[in-house]
Amino acid sequence: MSLRSKTLELKKRMQDALQGGGSKAIQKQTAMGKMAARERILYLLDPNSFHEYDLLVEHTARDFDMDKKTLPGDGVITGTGKIGGHPVCIYAQDFTVAGGSLGRMHAQKITKIMDHAMKLKLPIIGINDSGGARIQEGVNSLAGYGEIFYRNTQASGVIPQISVILGPCAGGAVYSPALTDFVFVVDKISKMFITGPEVIKTVLGEEISMEDLGGAKVHAETTGNAHFFANSEKECFDQIKKLVTYIPWNNAKKADTFPVKQPKTKTYNIEKVFPTDPKVPYDVRNVIKSISDNSDFFEIQEFFAPNIVIGFSRLNGQTVGCVANQPLVLAGVLDVDSSDKAARFIRFCNAFNIPLVTLVDLPGYLPGIDQEHAGVIRHGAKVLYAYSEATVPKITLILRKAYGGGYIAMCSNHLRADFVFAWPTAEIAVMGPEGAANIIFRNEIMSAENPDEIRKQKVKEYKKKFANPYVAAAYGYIDAVIDPKETRKFLIHAMEISVGKNEMRPEKKHGIPPF
Ligand code: HXC
Repeated sequence: MSLRSKTLELKKRMQDALQGGGSKAIQKQTAMGKMAARERILYLLDPNSFHEYDLLVEHTARDFDMDKKTLPGDGVITGTGKIGGHPVCIYAQDFTVAGGSLGRMHAQKITKIMDHAMKLKLPIIGINDSGGARIQEGVNSLAGYGEIFYRNTQASGVIPQISVILGPCAGGAVYSPALTDFVFVVDKISKMFITGPEVIKTVLGEEISMEDLGGAKVHAETTGNAHFFANSEKECFDQIKKLVTYIPWNNAKKADTFPVKQPKTKTYNIEKVFPTDPKVPYDVRNVIKSISDNSDFFEIQEFFAPNIVIGFSRLNGQTVGCVANQPLVLAGVLDVDSSDKAARFIRFCNAFNIPLVTLVDLPGYLPGIDQEHAGVIRHGAKVLYAYSEATVPKITLILRKAYGGGYIAMCSNHLRADFVFAWPTAEIAVMGPEGAANIIFRNEIMSAENPDEIRKQKVKEYKKKFANPYVAAAYGYIDAVIDPKETRKFLIHAMEISVGKNEMRPEKKHGIPPF
């Protein structure tokens, strides 16, 4: 056989494999607003950068007439490519081939590309669109999932792991995304659940649609399983392209530095976005924008636990992870969900060398039977744990309230913040003036002829004495009370001098955070 004919044979084999489930099956996907699996990869990666591997892998199933079937690529596409010039490893399940179901060779393709990602220290991106374990392959499918979960865990904190849910992701299959760092969902397309509507109906008699059970909105707003929500697949891929500009390629690197752009102070002027009346709430995201390069803020989990805001911005060209109480929602309290949200993000930033900037304005942890019984003690402790174990540069800015446990938890000096700054508007105390005055002056207030007047007077007295930054500053718990207009200058200087920070923690196998 000549080289030419051998090459033609290769081309024919490749062409057959590239058909996937065929044009009819692809059309069915397109009608649902979905892109084809290979099209997804090509849209996400830099033009002409994708190199596919294991295209010619064949499934090994023999039961249920599977030996008579060919499954092109065994329902998953794997390879390497680049985003913004940086290399990544990627896989995309192809629903047009046996519903993207995961059999032995399908799993082997995924674990092989994951192993590459770990060996080469590159991010791994997994596009999930699958009916789950390939029923005909029995325990080999389960083994495949187990191998993926194990690798997700080994890769955790070493390379960034990104999951994109672009179709069904059901049963145990959901646990791979759950073990990764960022989960992206698309409205009306993503469906994620452990047991589907049919099983729920049979076992519990409850009826619910797939969308209401595990649609994109549910995971973006209610469960917190998703970090990014998009209205279309293209919007979702554009979000991923943006995310990767903020994070390093692995845990031995720092995120890329970008040219410095000053904040857009016409729109995001501190005096404009921060009200002088302490009773008027404000959107803390505008404060972040007022101090960030180009006033950019890339928010994560925007719709889940919005009483805390997390995301990336840049200071002097360098990525920082921002954690900020949001006074617009529940006065910015810490509760079960916001604690989980913040703690996980803090741990991501610490693992990937991203300095933390914490903006504080909260009345404390949320009181209530629901919260106590939902485990606010255990969940709230995650924030203390995450900040205390973090060794990246930690800079804290107290804007207004820093009361009680909230003061300690939001990266206080005592949890080893490197720098704590406070605006003159800061109030640092065990609790709010109203509550405090009612307790410590109870007898005086009760026995007064005019209790309301005395209460007001005592609140004022308490405020003057404690609800300011100066008591904490006098003890050295705050490094500087600063003019709000000088915030960016102080933060950038703190970042610059923290570049060489190399703090150690006691040697141990691992800590035991209150998971
Ligand atoms: C084998 C599967 C499959 C599966 C789908 N297909 N899921 N084949 N194993 N798990 C095949 C279908 O037979 C069909 O083949 C093709 O994929 C397209 O499926 P449709 O049903 O026609 O598509 P659609 O109507 O869009 O419905 C999608 C779906 C449905 C909702 C995902 O296919 C479905 O319910 N599948 C089963 C889901 C499931 O129960 N999976 C196992 C979960 S248990 P043809 O040849 O007709 O085109 C699990 C355990 C993992 O995953 C544990 C890990 C720890």
